[in-house]
Amino acid sequence: MPDASLLNAIRSIVGDKGMLTDPGDTAPYSEDWRRLYHGRTAAVIRPGSTEELAAVVKLCAETGTPVVPQGGNTSMVGGAVPAEDGSELILSTARLNRIRDLDTADMTLTIEAGVTLKAAQMAAAEAGCLLPLSISSEGTAQIGGVLAVNAGGNNTVRYGNARDLVLGLEVVLPDGTTWNGLRRLRKDNTGYCLRQLFVGAEGTLGIITAAVLKLAPQPQEVAVALCGVPSVQAALALFTRFQAHDAASISAFELMSGQGMSFVLRHIPGAVLPLESAAPFYVLVELATPRPEAGLRAMLETILETALGDDTILDAAIAESDAQRAAIWKLREEHSEAQKREGASVKNDVSVPVSKVPAFIEKATAACEKLLPGVRVVPFGHMGDGNIHFNLEQPEGSDAAWFLAQDHAIMDAVNEVVREFDGSFSAEHGVGKLKPYMMPDWRGGAELALMQRIKAAIDPRGIMNPGKVLP
Ligand code: MLT
Ligand code: ZN
Repeated sequence: MPDASLLNAIRSIVGDKGMLTDPGDTAPYSEDWRRLYHGRTAAVIRPGSTEELAAVVKLCAETGTPVVPQGGNTSMVGGAVPAEDGSELILSTARLNRIRDLDTADMTLTIEAGVTLKAAQMAAAEAGCLLPLSISSEGTAQIGGVLAVNAGGNNTVRYGNARDLVLGLEVVLPDGTTWNGLRRLRKDNTGYCLRQLFVGAEGTLGIITAAVLKLAPQPQEVAVALCGVPSVQAALALFTRFQAHDAASISAFELMSGQGMSFVLRHIPGAVLPLESAAPFYVLVELATPRPEAGLRAMLETILETALGDDTILDAAIAESDAQRAAIWKLREEHSEAQKREGASVKNDVSVPVSKVPAFIEKATAACEKLLPGVRVVPFGHMGDGNIHFNLEQPEGSDAAWFLAQDHAIMDAVNEVVREFDGSFSAEHGVGKLKPYMMPDWRGGAELALMQRIKAAIDPRGIMNPGKVLP
C-alpha cells in the first residue's frame, strides 16, 4: 500500500494540482467506462510534464509501488483500472496536453499523450492536414492511450491502425528513465523497432508521454451513404464492388445490424433513420479523396443504383451536407452508448478475414442463440477490415447480473467460431484486464514466452499496469 511518505514525496514533485487523493475525486478514475471493474487507489497523480512523470515513476520503482497509466479511461477491457486492494497508484497523462510541433512539409504531428484524439484531429485539420484515425470515443480518448492499445477504428480499411501512424515515441520506462525516440524519419533502420514494442503493450512496458504521428493530405471530396442491406453477405458484395471501382477511395465501410440500429433510434436523442424502412443490416460507406473534382459522388450514385437494381441493397441515403454526414455517422458511433443504455452487454471485439465476416456472423449468432435463448445479438463494426464487435445484449426482462455472469461462456462460444475462421479474440480494444486468461490458449508457446521475457527484461519488478495483458 503506498504510504504517506511516498505520497508526500510525489506531492513535492507534482504539486497540489497534480494530485487527487479524496476518494470522491479518485472514484471516477478507478472505474472503467463499462463499469465492469471497481478499483480503488490512494491517489491519482497528474504530472504536468514528462520530467515530473519520470520523477514520479522513479520513486514508484524505488519503492516497488505499482502504477496504472491512464489516459481518457475509455478502455472497453478494463485496461486502465487499478486493483481493488488499493495498492496501485493511477498515473494520469491528462495534463501532458501540448501540441509540440506540426510540420506541414514533413506531414508530422508531435504531440503529448494527454491530447484527446479529437483535439489532435482538429489541430491537423486547422493546418490543412488529416490525422487519419477515428474511433467512437475520440472526444475523450487521449493519444497516449490510443497508441498504448494500438487503436483501430473507422479508417483502418484505408490508413491502417494507430501503429501505422507512429514515426517516433517518447516513453518513460518502469525505472523512471525517459527514452526520447521522437524522430520523424520515414526511413530509419537502426536495430530493433522499439517504438512498436510500446504501441499495443497497453502500458505494461512503460508510459508513452509523446509521439510523432504521420499526417495525410486533407480530403477535398467526401461522400457518405447509409444503405439498408438484406444480409451480411450482401454487405460484403457491396464492399467488393466499391473495391473493384476505386479501392483507394474507401475511407470507411461499417456494418450495423437492425437490432443495434433499433437501440440507437430508441436511446439516442436526435437519431433518425434516413431510410424509408428498417432493414436487417445496414452499411455506412464513406469515400474520400485528396484529389479535387474526383467525381466520388457520381461513382457512389452509380454503384448504389446498380446495387439497388440487383437487390444487393434495399434502400440508400446519400448525405447532402456536412450536417447529414454527421447525422449518419452518429447512427454508427452511438452504438456502444445505445447498447449501454439498453442494458448489460458482453462484448467480443474480434476479427476474421474480411471475406469470412458473413459466415462468422451467421455461425456465431447461432452459437450464442443456442447457448442463451433470447439473447440479443448486436454485431457491428469495421467490416472493411474484418473487425466485428460481436456484442450480445441481455435477453429482454432478464437480470443484468445473471447475464454478466455468463460472460466467459459467451466469449468462449464466440471465440470458438473466431478460431474456426483463423481470426483474433481481440482486434482493436486490446487484452486489458478482461482477457489475459485467453492469452495462453491463443498466444501460448513461444509467443507468450517471448512476451513474458520482454516484460521481465523491461519491467523486472512488475510495477507497470499489473494484471493487464499477460496472464
Ligand atoms: C466502436 O467501434 O464503436 C467500439 O469500438 C465498439 C464497441 O462498443 O464494442
Ligand atoms: Zn470499434
